[in-house]
Amino acid sequence: MSTTSSARTDSVVDVFEQAASTYDRTGVSYFEPFGTALVRGAGIRPGDDVLDVGCGRGAVLFPAAEATGPTGHVTGIDLAPTMVALTADDAVRAGLTQVEVRVGDAQQPSFPPRSFDVVLAGMIVFLLPAPEQALRAYARLLRPTGRLAVSTPGTFDPAFVAAMDALAAHLPAEQPRPAAAVGPFDDERTITETMTAAGLDVVAISEHRVESRFHDVDHWMQWMWSHGARALLQHLPADRLDAATADAARALGSARAPDGGLSLTTAGRLTIAVPRPRDPAPVAAR
Ligand SMILES: C[S@@+](CC[C@H](N)C(=O)[O-])C[C@H]1O[C@@H](n2cnc3c(N)ncnc32)[C@H](O)[C@@H]1O
Repeated sequence: MSTTSSARTDSVVDVFEQAASTYDRTGVSYFEPFGTALVRGAGIRPGDDVLDVGCGRGAVLFPAAEATGPTGHVTGIDLAPTMVALTADDAVRAGLTQVEVRVGDAQQPSFPPRSFDVVLAGMIVFLLPAPEQALRAYARLLRPTGRLAVSTPGTFDPAFVAAMDALAAHLPAEQPRPAAAVGPFDDERTITETMTAAGLDVVAISEHRVESRFHDVDHWMQWMWSHGARALLQHLPADRLDAATADAARALGSARAPDGGLSLTTAGRLTIAVPRPRDPAPVAAR
């Protein structure tokens, strides 16, 4: 059976819908520092109109709202309704009148052309069924002086990779192993090619490293259930979970910190791109 794009989107979004209440709320520093760094790189100015696609619980959205200030406007879209509801509540509680959060598809955001000064996409584009088409859509949404800022995973801590492999070894034989690659965002060259094909010129690609600390392996597993890794965990048979966790704990041995906790470092990539100047509209023949 083939997997259609919308089926793929549904299954990705289901994972995040189920994770929404704990996503980025397990006391682990991961999405928030990547979000803050992405917003810093995007050079948002007070008063800017900003779109944040796949806004999740606001790791990018809230720093962006701080950068625009109350004279700007930040629209966050996400396809997981619970992500949208919880993030909208957080924005109201924080008194951020410049923030609007709604259900919307990051694959094809429906806004008029040239609506935004900045489009932000934090840890999402590699999850989309057709990333290049999505980037092309973002280019159309940008004003001529606008900027796109995208974060993608770079290199995971070897201990994290080993622990993921240890968990995956307990999946039923018929269950496909999770793909490690992020395809069109694998390295700087492929990112540049993907952006260029989508009508964008890359201004900068930088690496940003984030250290995440965990009290113990149970805290690590709690964090794993709270984000995309849930896609793997939910396919582990219930009677394999304890053995899988014990194997993951052994694999995380090299991440043991002096205080007895765990420390994992992830390198993400931050890409800033601008829309390639469009050809002027042809002059109508007289
Ligand atoms: C890894 S999270 C990133 C969230 C946030 N940008 C951050 O940096 O923490 C990916 C988010 O994208 C959302 N998502 C996945 N596919 C989507 C789509 N096609 N349209 C909109 N949101 C989508 C998920 O629901 C989830 O909230």
